[in-house]
Amino acid sequence: MSEGPVDPTTTDAWKALTELRAGFEPDLRSWFADDPGRASRFTFEAADLHVDLSKDLITDDLLASLLALAEQVGLESRRDAMLAGEHINVTEDRAVLHTALRLPADASLEVDGTDVVPAVHETLAKMYAFADRVRSGEWKGVTGERIHTVVNIGIGGSDLGPVMAYEALEPFRHPEIECRFISNIDPTDAGQKLKGLDPATTLFVVSSKTFSTLETLTNARLARAWLLDALGDDVDSAEAVKKHFVAVSTALDKVAAFGIDPENAFGFWDWVGGRYSVDSAIGTSLAIAIGPEGFAEFLGGFHAIDEHFAKTPLAQNVPALMGLLNVWYVNFLDAQTHAVLPYSQLLHRFPAYLQQLTMESNGKSVRWDGTAVTTDTGEVFWGEPGTNGQHAFYQLIHQGTRVIPADFIAFANPAYPLVDASDGQSVDVHELLLANFFAQTQALAFGKTAEQVRAEGTAEDIVNARVFSGNRPTTSIMAPSLTPGVLGQLIALYEHITFTQGVVWGIDSFDQWGVELGKQLAVQISPAVSGDADTAKRQDTSTQSLIAYYREKRK
Ligand code: F6P
Repeated sequence: MSEGPVDPTTTDAWKALTELRAGFEPDLRSWFADDPGRASRFTFEAADLHVDLSKDLITDDLLASLLALAEQVGLESRRDAMLAGEHINVTEDRAVLHTALRLPADASLEVDGTDVVPAVHETLAKMYAFADRVRSGEWKGVTGERIHTVVNIGIGGSDLGPVMAYEALEPFRHPEIECRFISNIDPTDAGQKLKGLDPATTLFVVSSKTFSTLETLTNARLARAWLLDALGDDVDSAEAVKKHFVAVSTALDKVAAFGIDPENAFGFWDWVGGRYSVDSAIGTSLAIAIGPEGFAEFLGGFHAIDEHFAKTPLAQNVPALMGLLNVWYVNFLDAQTHAVLPYSQLLHRFPAYLQQLTMESNGKSVRWDGTAVTTDTGEVFWGEPGTNGQHAFYQLIHQGTRVIPADFIAFANPAYPLVDASDGQSVDVHELLLANFFAQTQALAFGKTAEQVRAEGTAEDIVNARVFSGNRPTTSIMAPSLTPGVLGQLIALYEHITFTQGVVWGIDSFDQWGVELGKQLAVQISPAVSGDADTAKRQDTSTQSLIAYYREKRK
């Protein structure tokens, strides 16, 4: 590893990009009109993903400079260091090896002197065997009934990945097992999710890397009390916890202290970040839902993109290219946000999942050597499925004053191939969805000129309001179908995009110190909320008065 991060702003490539920016007048209309090869030249394949960057604001010169930037900041050597298990998470002195979770069983990878692949596959085998027992009904609750509901209790990376993938892979789920997810410390979450459940047929998976997260441990205790209370005095409580609680954690001692049988605990390792852990045993609820074969296919998808990222020259390397483009947008075109717009209802939690992945990773002001960053870093990721978003916030993307790069994601085949056959017609509804998908990126790229608006007979005084400037950047990502493998590919794609941006900015994309202060203060403030006057007095006046308002109004 080099001495410290390269300051990207001192590179020749950055200077070249700055010059390109100075004279930059994007014109997608003429770029396409004058260059019939543009679409094919800027379209790339990565495993099953077909990625069209041609409606992004790039040119050949720009791409060359971005690739030079990647070279000058040492993207490939940093990538190789990550894949080799070097401690690139410097502030926590850890390797960063989510990619090891999806290596095939015959691979090997030494981390700090130990080959980690056998342990990964041992844990997978244990998780798969358990998932099979729950799926087949062999695993029985304390009263001898099979499990019908699996409740994952976790937050952040111990929730967002499993719930997003569970939703996305709905067509692949076991028909007799429902999963629910409790994450929030808001008691509404546990209250709602436990409502209507039969304790005899409910299994809790307590997922927490550290097994010390306030929300998760509180919710796990609530669930345990609910279970024991609902099962009544006739059952042995230790036996009930054993049959109805399993855990996923790196802290197996704390799992045992909670009363969960270590036999029923699935481990992982400190070299897996929480937001990179859906492909570890944190995916246990998902493995129960979609089965070991589905989960193995999911991992295979990740691995295919890992291979692509590791081995494809940067000029065709999709995650690297997308990450570099994001740098262009953030640092040279002042983009402050990035939209992810899946034209797939099944991916409705994908933007939320990506928010943790991208923003917890790259929301940093300090580089990995402790010095201040030299440029803007992580942009805000957000999104909703199309076409719903079209009728809500797309107005701002089309005609607002801000640059909002947007990733559009769609699949050739629908999960539900419904046909609207009313009134003697036969309309494939998925094609209506896709027509919107194609139309939106076209409208954003090419817009509509005043001449076109006038030609439609529009009154002159509203012509300007109906003009679309175009030149609004989009990336189109397509795949044949949303399968477990393709979902794994999509996640890995964004993991490596995030990594690429982090390398350019010189930051440690794998720590998350920014979430700690609020956690500490919540613990300190807690007595004041419950009425401790001394603690209340130590707070700032705004906080004091908010707590006072709460105490006055609370019934
Ligand atoms: O507070 C942030 C965080 O540490 C995330 O990085 C993590 O995914 C989440 O909390 C949950 O942590 P754990 O799995 O240890 O309960």
